[in-house]
Amino acid sequence: MATLLAIVLFVGVSFVLANEPAWNGHIPSNAAVAALFTPYYVPPGAKSYDSDFPHINYKGDWTDKYSTGYIGKSLRTTSQSGGSFSFTFNGTGIEWFGNMDQYHGSVIISIDGMKYKEISGWSNNSRPLKQQRLFWTFELPPGRHTIKAVNSRNSVMDVDALVVTRGSPSTATPSLATRRSNQWALTQKGTTGVHAMQLAIVSSTHALIVDKVEHNPLSIDGHPAWAAVYNLENHSVKPLRMQSNSFCAGGTFLSNGTLINVGGNPVVASHTSAADFGDLDGLQAVRLFHPCDTSDATGCEIYENHHQLRMASPRWYNTVIRLSDGSAMIIGGSKKGGWMNNATVNNPTIEFYPPKNIHGSNGLPVHLPFLEKTLNSNLFPIAFSLPDGRVFMAANRDAIIYDWTTNETQNLPQIPNNVRVTYPMAGTSLLLPLTPENDYIAVILICGGSTLDDNQPSYEISSQDPATDQCFRLTLNEPGIALGWQVEYMPEARIMPDAVLLPTGKIVILNGGSTGISGYGNVLRQVGSSNADNPVLQPVLYDPNVHEGRRFSRDGMPSSSISRLYHSVATLTPKGNIMIAGSNPNLDRSEMKYGTEYRVEWLDPPYMTQERPRIVENIQQIGFEGTFNVKVELPSAGCNDMTAVLMDFGYVTHAVHANSRLVYLRYSSSQPGSLRVEGPPNAKIYPPGPGWLFIVCDDVPSEGLKVMIGDGQGPSIDLDAIENLRKTTVD
Ligand SMILES: *[C@@H]1O[C@H](CO)[C@@H](O)[C@H](O)[C@H]1NC(C)=O
Ligand SMILES: *[C@@H]1O[C@H](CO)[C@@H](O)[C@H](O)[C@H]1NC(C)=O
Ligand SMILES: *[C@@H]1O[C@H](CO)[C@@H](O)[C@H](O)[C@H]1NC(C)=O
Ligand SMILES: *[C@@H]1O[C@H](CO)[C@@H](O)[C@H](O)[C@H]1NC(C)=O
Ligand SMILES: *[C@@H]1O[C@H](CO)[C@@H](O)[C@H](O)[C@H]1NC(C)=O
Ligand SMILES: *[C@@H]1O[C@H](CO)[C@@H](O)[C@H](O)[C@H]1NC(C)=O
Repeated sequence: MATLLAIVLFVGVSFVLANEPAWNGHIPSNAAVAALFTPYYVPPGAKSYDSDFPHINYKGDWTDKYSTGYIGKSLRTTSQSGGSFSFTFNGTGIEWFGNMDQYHGSVIISIDGMKYKEISGWSNNSRPLKQQRLFWTFELPPGRHTIKAVNSRNSVMDVDALVVTRGSPSTATPSLATRRSNQWALTQKGTTGVHAMQLAIVSSTHALIVDKVEHNPLSIDGHPAWAAVYNLENHSVKPLRMQSNSFCAGGTFLSNGTLINVGGNPVVASHTSAADFGDLDGLQAVRLFHPCDTSDATGCEIYENHHQLRMASPRWYNTVIRLSDGSAMIIGGSKKGGWMNNATVNNPTIEFYPPKNIHGSNGLPVHLPFLEKTLNSNLFPIAFSLPDGRVFMAANRDAIIYDWTTNETQNLPQIPNNVRVTYPMAGTSLLLPLTPENDYIAVILICGGSTLDDNQPSYEISSQDPATDQCFRLTLNEPGIALGWQVEYMPEARIMPDAVLLPTGKIVILNGGSTGISGYGNVLRQVGSSNADNPVLQPVLYDPNVHEGRRFSRDGMPSSSISRLYHSVATLTPKGNIMIAGSNPNLDRSEMKYGTEYRVEWLDPPYMTQERPRIVENIQQIGFEGTFNVKVELPSAGCNDMTAVLMDFGYVTHAVHANSRLVYLRYSSSQPGSLRVEGPPNAKIYPPGPGWLFIVCDDVPSEGLKVMIGDGQGPSIDLDAIENLRKTTVD
């Protein structure tokens, strides 16, 4: 992290001199030099209007101020109570930029004559922060709108510029009344504020969203934020203060509930339009997000200290999973940003957090030849901790089971029909539900990807090359491995899909495109910058338990109008529906097709409107082997078939749903409304750490209850290994 030394910070302005520009290998021709960094940004496809634009209608006493620090060198300001401006525009969004300081105060904003929001221009600075985004909305129907802002008493309000955006229109909200019993509902509600490249549910009320450093509308400390917590109940977003560039990091919870987010990107400097963000090199970063269950997200923070906490080696596009000892295994990645991996930049190792002394590594990376064998398309490897404690991995066309305790590798059959399943030929994968009924036999499902040749240069690949419609299943016992991967077909081909486990044991496959490849700015016939095209807009339900040929169903499934291509995500929520966010095949925020997508959609399975069972006891911790009582309220019609289900919603990015897991728990019931449930038999079946308990009654789940599995203690610490890592590697 040599770039750390090249950073000079002073009063809200920072200059970064980076030596390694590496943003997905793409350098735009109009690259700017390092410039003063503020939230002001006009994404491609948007239009900026300066404060003196004649059609901005000012009322009250306004005066002009001039400075090279202002957009267009001028700013219009008022300190009159009730002073206002209004502006009529044609688009789907509007952003208002101006100064913020101790003299600015609250402003009432109306859109089309209706009160929309009260905002505050106050910040704890005596000298103004310039070019700040004071207000933004991107959720308007396409067409003409009028924004009006009215100043409050005793405060200052100003206009530096207004930016009109023209994103794609919102989806209509289907009416609940017209829903049939098998009808799913898709609604658009909320925007993420920072683009949702990475997504994890962190509490019953909040999701963590992590992006790369770019011109997101949500600000913190006078500059755009690149991480936030999203309130699942009222859709408000709170920016998080992140130091390093988390572009293409991976993440996992540890056994004590702390989430780690590791790896990322170097500082992107002089060669991009996003010149100067004040961020640190994220390639070796370890970022901690401690358990945060407050309903208003107070105390939710990202902690970074690269001097104390870092990985032993640089990793861009690494996968991170939790092991049976509660620690994290960090797998592969590339040593610098790029696109397709290659031998020069490959990092063919694993390491652990906290660092371990294992196979003589003393905290340093352990070589894994599988990550060399699988070049070139092997970034964001697929990995799951198996019920025997070993780790399944798939990359490119190959798969293994790796025993991290012995450093032994068992080769598995190759994925058939030339399909490659990891970045940039990204498919998605799940460990199918584990059940005591078959002694927890692991079955791996992989869907989508591409048959493109990963030795082909990018100028021979097109956004129109078809993705694959194949899914592959492998049962990880002797007969299953001897039988090999079983092939089945989705109704549509998908590159970079997401697969989300429901508490019912069924799976929703969604997002992705039917042609092209992951990434942006690399291939022929890019759409905007997207390497992929032909978004697949209708999710499909996959039932792993019925016979092949009958597993896929689109019955009652709505279609979206929002394209979810590269950098899109989806996760199950504690309520039991699916949160869908992101899509950004762009170097920086863009409004052009395929633009940066901030809108969130919610896919409600039919059970969301049915009478559901309820867990009425607040269990916080579940030990291994032990039993615990759960009080439940069952639907009035009773329950013919009941299951107790423990889930990990996973850490989602780049089609990888790391740690995603569903384990059926044994239970007995001596009296109605009370279950005696057995915890998972051991830490291999459910690695210790946070989970979600659901009671499912005739295919209708309760809401999930957050529980800690195991004793809640952190993984064991090896001080020698930590010390060795610190003295052997630089920060
Ligand atoms: C708004 O802009 C769009 C796209 O340029 C155009 O098609 C439409 O006619 C405009 N609508 C109005 C009301 O001006
Ligand atoms: C404003 O900043 C000063 C100096 O950093 C600090 O002492 C004060 O508590 C802050 N006030 C508020 C309201 O945050
Ligand atoms: C959303 O809920 C949180 C927690 O109750 C609250 O702090 C926040 O102000 C709410 N936001 C909005 C926009 O209602
Ligand atoms: C390997 O990848 C890096 C990063 O994308 C790139 O700069 C380099 O040119 C590639 N090397 C080869 C031999 O393709
Ligand atoms: C682990 O095994 C691989 C071969 O599979 C070998 O290359 C590597 O050196 C081994 N590491 C240690 C520390 O034994
Ligand atoms: C959990 O364990 C990790 C690894 O040792 C540690 O960094 C973190 O601070 C712990 N979290 C809590 C909440 O104690």
